[in-house]
Amino acid sequence: MLYRIARSALFHLPPEKAHALTLDAVRWRGRILPATKQGGAPALQALGLSFGNRVGLAAGFDKNAVAVDGWLSLGFGHVEVGTVTPKPQPGNPQPRVFRLVRSEAIINRMGFPNDGAERVVARLRARRGSGIVGVNIGKNAATPLDRAVDDYLSCLRAVFPVADYVTVNVSSPNTTGLRSLQDTEQLVPLLSRLMEESQALERRHSRRAPLLVKLSPDLADAELRKIAAAVSSIPVAGIIATNTTISREAVADQPLARETGGLSGRPLFARSCAAVRVLRETVGPAMPIIGVGGVASAADARALRQAGADLVQLYTALVYRGPGLVREIARALS
Ligand SMILES: Cc1cc2nc3c(=O)[nH]c(=O)nc-3n(C[C@H](O)[C@H](O)[C@H](O)COP(=O)(O)O)c2cc1C
Repeated sequence: MLYRIARSALFHLPPEKAHALTLDAVRWRGRILPATKQGGAPALQALGLSFGNRVGLAAGFDKNAVAVDGWLSLGFGHVEVGTVTPKPQPGNPQPRVFRLVRSEAIINRMGFPNDGAERVVARLRARRGSGIVGVNIGKNAATPLDRAVDDYLSCLRAVFPVADYVTVNVSSPNTTGLRSLQDTEQLVPLLSRLMEESQALERRHSRRAPLLVKLSPDLADAELRKIAAAVSSIPVAGIIATNTTISREAVADQPLARETGGLSGRPLFARSCAAVRVLRETVGPAMPIIGVGGVASAADARALRQAGADLVQLYTALVYRGPGLVREIARALS
């Protein structure tokens, strides 16, 4: 009810303005309220980490790690910050975020605006609270694709000491050519090099930060199978599925559907669920999968669990349904 009122005020503002206000509010909440314990529920082990519950904040909402303690105080069991790139960059020109209200969806073409790895790491070091924080890494727009590995390595080295896990983002549709890194001929050498570096960092820092890869929903099932088989033989620690889609099939009747970018929210759910199912069938029961894409209710989260996700993440449903959803889903999945 309270969120309904807040939402109608926020929806009068341009999406990025509303987003900035929300981040401010969550940041202040984190300063005032400590993260609440998850009702004494036993911690959940995945990726070698202890999660308070199965629900996380998806990458992109808090790109610069400004409100991590606030998100945890809202009941999230983990927070994924980023995508961060080695150097700060402004992203694409505005407007670059669009609400498709009737579909409870968003189209965005942000293009990784962020403060750069160094500043994000400094913020994570200065955190007062505890709680699991993953860092999602990418490449700068200006870095040629054939040098992408250098950007991922640079980010990995920077964030490793402060990240509980690191996500290699090769699936954003808003950085030219990025998704071609999902071709196994490119992906296997990239992830193998990052794994090698991660093992060296593990020895140097005497800590672990498992490496995950985040995939696109626009990969055909056969491609997903090929990638899943390849990444489990490297082996990376886990898979996040999925990022946003460039498909407009489910929203074709809406004028904003013509905007370029990645579509998220309810229209994505069927595809993200199907992708998780295919990935789970291929990798078997052991490899952790984080399901994300269109989860907007406890029933959706249960369905994604049934499809094979160990953990779920939310972004767009937070905008449409509000923060009460976090605890609702956490309870449903406990
Ligand atoms: C405005 C916006 C920005 C996003 N930025 C990122 C990002 O920087 N990195 C990333 O891996 N995913 C990013 N995402 C994708 C989300 O993490 C998530 O994978 C996707 O939105 C599907 O989940 P949802 O339907 O719950 O929103 C972004 C999504 C939105 C809506």
